[in-house]
Amino acid sequence: MLLSLLAVPLLMVSRPLPRVLCLHTGGTLGMDAEQSYEPDGVDGHVHLKPGTGGSFSPAGALRPGAMLNNLLSAVPELRAYANLRLEIPFNLDSCRVGPPEWVKLAKILHRNRDHYDAFLIVHGTDTMAYTASALSLLLAGFKKPIVMTGSQLPLSMPRSDARQNLIDSVTCATSFFAPPHTQLQEVAICFGGRLMRGNRAQKVHSSTYRAFDSINYPPLATLGVDVDWNMSYLLKVKGVYRPRFNLDTRVIRVPIIPGCDPRTAYGDLKARNVRGVVLESFGVGNMPDLPRLGWLPWLKKTVKQGIKVYLSSQCASGPLHPELYKSGKAAMDMGVEAGPQMTPEAAVIKLMLCLAYPDIPLGVPIAGEL
Ligand SMILES: *[C@@H]1O[C@H](CO)[C@@H](O)[C@H](O)[C@H]1NC(C)=O
Repeated sequence: MLLSLLAVPLLMVSRPLPRVLCLHTGGTLGMDAEQSYEPDGVDGHVHLKPGTGGSFSPAGALRPGAMLNNLLSAVPELRAYANLRLEIPFNLDSCRVGPPEWVKLAKILHRNRDHYDAFLIVHGTDTMAYTASALSLLLAGFKKPIVMTGSQLPLSMPRSDARQNLIDSVTCATSFFAPPHTQLQEVAICFGGRLMRGNRAQKVHSSTYRAFDSINYPPLATLGVDVDWNMSYLLKVKGVYRPRFNLDTRVIRVPIIPGCDPRTAYGDLKARNVRGVVLESFGVGNMPDLPRLGWLPWLKKTVKQGIKVYLSSQCASGPLHPELYKSGKAAMDMGVEAGPQMTPEAAVIKLMLCLAYPDIPLGVPIAGEL
């Protein structure tokens, strides 16, 4: 009797909520709904305008306090999961986000690593997979959850997917603080009811709510009535944390097209200031083998010039075995590198990193990217 009486107040002394730093970087989620929603518009489509009703200072800058208030009044449940702090490093349509912004975000995350339990990044969907790949590689070994999300419709619009994506993301980011105490140690994208490894995910649909998929790797978790974790697929960080803040962006993707001669299409890449090529071959690593078709002579010259060439495939899934074909084998013998399949997003950024840090091997994973 006495025990049970005591138990009540003890239970009420709840543990402090996990501290989550939310970085709002722009995108559809924070866009202004009122002025941009034209349900009866001429073409019957939704038109969006950048902005966040009431979150702007008179000078036009987004105010973090107002933005957080907006977020918490639209999704009050978030308060129950986490002690949220919000920063706005930049407010950009993600088509404008690139290497300078990736490095800026990586530095903010690095500076705050010890001060928060988890990180949430709100980002436009178009280049979210690139940013996720970049952060995972720049911050290899970070060990704390970094969950990225966004939405297909602004938070303040009816039928928006923003609310659910935000709640799902915070649930995943703070998963360690509730049973079964899952330890998420990686950069992940949470979207449309799934948590995916950031450097394995791709935007696969421009308008449905399931806009992201991870074709070559199972989802880390599926969020339905329950949150089902795929425990064995979570990244287990063993190495030391080693942040890096440089990328050599002189990288291009080259798809092999039947009938296209790379000598005329791409020519002398060194003269064009290219330092790395992700070569997108056929199938398991095949390419036109006859010298007159241009690919092998062009590759030989390119590799000789000191340009790093990484072999990947035009197939979205399945393994790479360039050694199985004469042309693939010839390319490897010339010094073209290959490893297991990466998404194109992860492959170009891994190449950017390896060019800046030649000690990092291209074909060996540093953040579960292959
Ligand atoms: C876990 O991974 C398997 C593939 O190995 C997949 O079929 C399944 O849907 C995943 N489960 C969840 C809960 O995401």
